[in-house]
Amino acid sequence: MFCRLRTHQWCFIIFNIMLFHSLLFGGDLLEKYFLRSLPVTYTDMKILQIREKARKLDMDPLKTNISKSFIISSSEVCSDQEVFLLTIVSSSPANRTRRNLIRQTWGNVTGIRGYAVLILFALGKPVSEAMQLDISEESQNHGDIIEGNFLDSSENQTLKIVMSMEWTLAFCSNAKFLLKTDEEIFVNIASLADYLLNLKTHLEDIYIGRVIHQEVPDRDPQSKGFVSLSQYQEQYYPDYCSGTAFVISQDVVRKIYVVAKETILLVPPDVFVGICAKNAGIIPIQSSRFSGKKHIRYNRCCYKFIFTSSGMEDDEILKEWREISDGKDCTLLETYYGLVSCRVLTYFDKFKHFNIETIKNEAFRFTN
Ligand SMILES: *[C@@H]1O[C@H](CO)[C@@H](O)[C@H](O)[C@H]1NC(C)=O
Ligand SMILES: *[C@@H]1O[C@H](CO)[C@@H](O)[C@H](O)[C@H]1NC(C)=O
Ligand SMILES: *[C@@H]1O[C@H](CO)[C@@H](O)[C@H](O)[C@H]1NC(C)=O
Ligand SMILES: *[C@@H]1O[C@H](CO)[C@@H](O)[C@H](O)[C@H]1NC(C)=O
Repeated sequence: MFCRLRTHQWCFIIFNIMLFHSLLFGGDLLEKYFLRSLPVTYTDMKILQIREKARKLDMDPLKTNISKSFIISSSEVCSDQEVFLLTIVSSSPANRTRRNLIRQTWGNVTGIRGYAVLILFALGKPVSEAMQLDISEESQNHGDIIEGNFLDSSENQTLKIVMSMEWTLAFCSNAKFLLKTDEEIFVNIASLADYLLNLKTHLEDIYIGRVIHQEVPDRDPQSKGFVSLSQYQEQYYPDYCSGTAFVISQDVVRKIYVVAKETILLVPPDVFVGICAKNAGIIPIQSSRFSGKKHIRYNRCCYKFIFTSSGMEDDEILKEWREISDGKDCTLLETYYGLVSCRVLTYFDKFKHFNIETIKNEAFRFTN
C-alpha cells in the first residue's frame, strides 16, 4: 500500500508527523531558544557590586557562629569530600516515612560515574518536644539532616532555602552544584548528574529548572498567597525556576545568598530566589526535563531520561524505582517512544483534570 502512495499523500503523512512532533516538543525548543542565557556583560553598577561582594564573601570566620544557629548542623558530612552534586530536600519534621522512602529509593545514590553526590534533608523546628527527640534520633541514625532554628511552617519556607544556601557555603563549599528540591518530588539523580557533567560551556551562573515565565503576583487579599503592592510592585514576577526542583552552581549560591541577606520580601520562596538571582544578573535556563508541578505519567524509559516528576505516591515511587534502577538501558528508540508516550499521557491528564474541575465548578454554580 505504501508503495502506491502519490507524492502529495506522502507529503501529507510527513506533514502530519511533523505537526505532531512540533506540537509535542516544539514548545520546549522555543522556550530553550528564548530563555538561553547568553554570555552577558554587566553594565548595571548594582549587579557588578553584588557580584563583587559575592566573590569576596568569606564564610570561614563565620562558621562557628553559623553552626550554632542550627539545631542540627551536620557540619561534618560534606567536609572531607569533593562533592559534585549536593541535593537538599525540603522536608517537614513530621514526615519521617517520606524521608525513609527517599533514602530507600532515589536518594540511595552516593556517586555517578565516579563523582560523589550527597543527599540531605532540610527541616525547621517541629512544634512538639517529642518530635524533636525523634528527629535527633533520626539524625544520629542517618546523618543526613540539617535543622534550622525556626518554626517549620509554610510561611517559613523562604528561611529554609536561605538556610540551605548558608549551609552549602559554610560546610560544603566544594560542591559544584546544589539541587534544591522537595520531598514530594521524584528525582532521577543519575540523569541529572549526567547532564551536569556534560555541560561543556563555562560552569558559572548556572540556574536551571522549569522556568516560570511572566507569572502574575496573587493580588487577592483573601488568598493565602496574597502579595501586596508594597511587597512587590511590578505586574509580573521575573522569570524564575519552579521551586519543585532547580539546580544552581556554587557561585550562584553565593550570589543569591548575598542578595537574600539584604532582602526581605513576602513572596513565594521560589519567586524570592528568582528575584535574588535577577538582582545578581543571573538568567534562569529552562530545561523541560524538569517537570515543575506536573506529575509525569510513568514509563520506564521516559523516567530514565527526565530529571523530576511531581506528586508521587509512596507505593508508586517504590515500584517504579525498582524498575528504573534495574540496570537495563534504554535504546534511543525506546527513549524516544517513552518520551512520546509519557508526554501524550501527561497532556491527557491535564485535560482530564481541567474537565473535571470545570464540571465541578459548573455543578457547584448550578446547585447554588
Ligand atoms: C559570633 O557571634 C558572637 C555573639 O553573637 C558575636 O559577638 C561575634 O562577633 C560573632 N562572630 C562573627 C565572626 O561574626
Ligand atoms: C541502597 O542500595 C544498595 C545497593 O546499591 C543496597 O545494598 C542498600 O540496601 C540500599 N539501601 C537502602 C536503604 O535501600
Ligand atoms: C517562622 O519562624 C520564626 C522563628 O522560629 C517564628 O517566630 C515564626 O512564628 C515562624 N513563622 C511562622 C509563620 O510560622
Ligand atoms: C509527607 O509528604 C507527602 C509527599 O509530599 C505528603 O503527601 C504528605 O502530606 C506529607 N505528610 C506530612 C505529615 O507532612
